[in-house]
Amino acid sequence: MLDYMLDQLRQLEEEAMAALEAVEDRDALAAWYRRYVGKRGTPSSRALREERAGYDARGRDASQPLPLTQLVHAVEDLPKEDRPAFGQAANKLKAKFEAAHGAWDQTLYQAEMERELEHGALDVTLPGRPAGPGHLHITTQTLRQIYDIFAEMGFQVYEAPEVETDELNFGLLNMPPHHPARDMWDTFWASDEVLLRTHTSPGQMRAMRERCPEPIRVILPGKCYRYEQVTARSEHQFYQVEGLAVGHNIRMTDLIGTLTQFARRFYGPERRVRIRGSYFPFTEPSIEVDMDCILCHGRGCRVCKYSGWLEIAGAGMVHPVVLQNGGYDPDEWSGFAFGPGVERPAMLKYRIDDIRLFYGNDLRFLRQF
Ligand code: DAH
Repeated sequence: MLDYMLDQLRQLEEEAMAALEAVEDRDALAAWYRRYVGKRGTPSSRALREERAGYDARGRDASQPLPLTQLVHAVEDLPKEDRPAFGQAANKLKAKFEAAHGAWDQTLYQAEMERELEHGALDVTLPGRPAGPGHLHITTQTLRQIYDIFAEMGFQVYEAPEVETDELNFGLLNMPPHHPARDMWDTFWASDEVLLRTHTSPGQMRAMRERCPEPIRVILPGKCYRYEQVTARSEHQFYQVEGLAVGHNIRMTDLIGTLTQFARRFYGPERRVRIRGSYFPFTEPSIEVDMDCILCHGRGCRVCKYSGWLEIAGAGMVHPVVLQNGGYDPDEWSGFAFGPGVERPAMLKYRIDDIRLFYGNDLRFLRQF
């Protein structure tokens, strides 16, 4: 029995190696593998036995040896003491087949490549597709317009971190723990003390503490975060440009003049501005600055919700407590502050109706600006 089986292996080897010489492409090579080595993977022995039975039933030429994987399963038919000898011979042959297959595969692949190159299917001398230089994101463009406008009025750009402490984001801005105004600004917390800033206002404190006792005129642009439901009007990340002026005899009219100038330079010289009383813990008095709707010029439309007015910024006179926290004596110094967003003005100016487009990274949108 063992001799017969070993003979089968030898016969298989001879036939297979001869057949391999005639294999001319990779499809034929795959067929060769199936014929002489067998299916890839390890099917259950039951499946194999069934397959062998079917193979015999289909009228296999009995003189033709089975593929190797099936021959190996015949080891079950051998007496125990003969199994190792057969197993070793089968393994050796398997290794030889795999090696021959691998080498032939390489040869065919090389030949295929050479044929393709000769026939010019791939012209490696063609220049590659140029990678375009890209352009500035609409938010960056808008920020730069805002910088330019405030630069003309003498404001420097001051950058403050996006990761802030509870103390700077809230406490020093006159919102001690449990102050109800904190409810307006929930955010992402890294710990009980550290958070992603909800507004650029904490930068006011950093600027004051660094510049004190000099007068200040800065804008503080940057990204802010809030725990928001994301909708067409609200994102959980967005930009603001805080403004801060601290000096002697700075008055509300200076604030109103500055923001009116901003509105006219950014949205158009015909803009009108109106002021409403409001509340922020870090300003006193606090105001809300509106301008006439750029779409309907005050007549009322969908954009302005038929009020004729659009809100452009919260603002106010820096609260004495905040001045003090920044190192300035409120009896001698005064200041104003404001905090418009960046995406909303861009949306108004360019008629964008969904804030989610800004950070959705869809090039069809971004390329329009
Ligand atoms: N920080 C405020 C917010 O995010 C906006 C704001 C209002 C900023 C009044 C100011 C200000 O500087 O004076 O809603």
